[in-house]
Amino acid sequence: MRNDIERVLIDEEVIVKRLDGMAMDIERDFPAGTLVVIILLKGALVFAADLLRRVPRVLEIECLNVTSYHGGVESSGKVDFPDRHFPEVRGRHVLLLDDILDTGRTLHAVKRRLTEEGAVAVHTAVLLAKDKPRSEEVGADYVGFEIGDEFVVGYGLDYQGKYRNLPYVGVLKLTATV
Ligand code: XMP
Repeated sequence: MRNDIERVLIDEEVIVKRLDGMAMDIERDFPAGTLVVIILLKGALVFAADLLRRVPRVLEIECLNVTSYHGGVESSGKVDFPDRHFPEVRGRHVLLLDDILDTGRTLHAVKRRLTEEGAVAVHTAVLLAKDKPRSEEVGADYVGFEIGDEFVVGYGLDYQGKYRNLPYVGVLKLTATV
C-alpha cells in the first residue's frame, strides 16, 4: 500500500497529538450535558473513532450516510441523504464530524438539514480543510489541519473505496489512479 503513496502529508503521531487538542477544545466549548455526535460515513470513521475517545463526557453517537463524491477525485456538487432513517436531533446540541472540508457543500447541506430537524445548535469538526476560497457560511468550527488543494487519502479518506486504513494522510501517486 505504501508504494502507492507519493508522499506522506501528515503522519500518525502528529494526527493523534492534534486530536488531543481538538478534544480539549470541544470539551471546553460545549455546555454541560450529553452531546449528540453525528459521524458522516464513511470518510469520518477513523477520525471520529480516535477523536471521540478523547472527549471526556457522555456522547450519543450516530452515523449518517451522505453521498457527494461518488468515488472519484472531483466533487459531484450534489449532496444526497440515501438513508431512510435520520438521527433524532430535536432540541439537542449536535457536533457534526466529517473527514475533510473541500468545497464546503457537504457540511453546509448536512448542517442545514440538522437545523431543519430541530437541532438547537450544530457545530462542525473536520480532520482536514483544504486551503481554498469558500463562501463564509461553510467554515468548520474545529479544524485538525489546513492542507493545500490536492487530493489526499488515508486516515479514513479513500480513492475509489481504497486506502481508508492508511494510518497517515498522504498524496497518491498518479500511477495508483489509473
Ligand atoms: P465538499 O466539497 O462537500 O467535500 O466539502 C466533502 C467531501 O468530499 C470528499 N473529499 C475528498 N475525499 N480525498 C478524499 O478522499 C480528498 O482530497 C477529498 N476532498 C473532498 C470527502 O468525502 C468529503 O467528505
